[in-house]
Amino acid sequence: MAVVTIVNENRRIDEVESIRSTLKLYDIDYERWTPAHEVSSEASAEEVLSAYSSEINKLKSQGGYVTADVIDVSPDTPGLDAMLAKFDREHWHDEDEVRFVIAGRGLFHVHRENGVVAIEVEAGDLIRVPRGTKHWFNLCGDRRIRAIRLFQDVSGWTPHYTETGVDREFQPVCFGPTFMRVADLG
Ligand SMILES: [Fe+2]
Repeated sequence: MAVVTIVNENRRIDEVESIRSTLKLYDIDYERWTPAHEVSSEASAEEVLSAYSSEINKLKSQGGYVTADVIDVSPDTPGLDAMLAKFDREHWHDEDEVRFVIAGRGLFHVHRENGVVAIEVEAGDLIRVPRGTKHWFNLCGDRRIRAIRLFQDVSGWTPHYTETGVDREFQPVCFGPTFMRVADLG
């Protein structure tokens, strides 16, 4: 289950219907998906896409997405820091950003007129950030995420950076299993 933080109000939400209705205020779609059949943690990309094919096809027809793939990121991924540096600054793009998390965790910040919302996603969470929405993304402490991505344009998308520096005002802190309170560190 995701954890949503309304940053300005210092309010945290971790109940599915409240998450869905709150994120709607920011024009973000949120769903929980369950696979059609058991998918092992070792499953290939093809097996993963097959297990979620009915949800993927539904989303494709609703959002005009033409392709789906599986991205796999772990601490061993070559060039991981360079890859993350492309996404951890506020940006927007002409494509929707659609992610369904299979394993690991990640932290989206979405910046709209009504403020900044932090969305920590984990396995089973689908998030759709519409094109043109300002946002940034960080991994959590375990630096691991495996996710299905959907694309409207097979050529992919290019981030447009706002360069406002707003992303640096927000701590990329996750509340999942790897979260450590400051007191625990001391
Ligand atoms: Fe993005």
